[in-house]
Amino acid sequence: MPQKMTWHSGYSVGNAGLDEQHKQLLALCNKAADCMEDDSARGREQFHVILNDLCIYAEQHFRTEEVLLGQHHYAGLTGHKAEHEDYQAKLVGFLYSASFGIIDKEGLRRYLSDWWIHHILESDMQYRPLFARAHAAQ
Ligand SMILES: [Fe+2]
Ligand SMILES: [Fe+2]
Repeated sequence: MPQKMTWHSGYSVGNAGLDEQHKQLLALCNKAADCMEDDSARGREQFHVILNDLCIYAEQHFRTEEVLLGQHHYAGLTGHKAEHEDYQAKLVGFLYSASFGIIDKEGLRRYLSDWWIHHILESDMQYRPLFARAHAAQ
């Protein structure tokens, strides 16, 4: 993350619960950005903890999102799940390296920034009309 990002209404996917989870993920990305410059033992330890949180929290979010998309019969669900799996595999890779003391902060920064743009702001946005239709039908 070059600099910290602030969530705004333009990032909304049309579902309050999912928006809340995206805000939490953004907060974790910002926490990772905070410790990018800190190369002390404490900074490296913090980075490891944040990586772990980014795995665990994203896993919970992906499950919630996939269940909701399934309930709304989202046609792109299979491809969407594959993107979630790619993220998990990538983060597990960063975590594995970190367990051997290889802290790839720049790699993580680039990956998270790219993921935020291409997954949350593009792929997740594609399911937004499902929730708009659900609201209209109520
Ligand atoms: Fe999402
Ligand atoms: Fe997603």
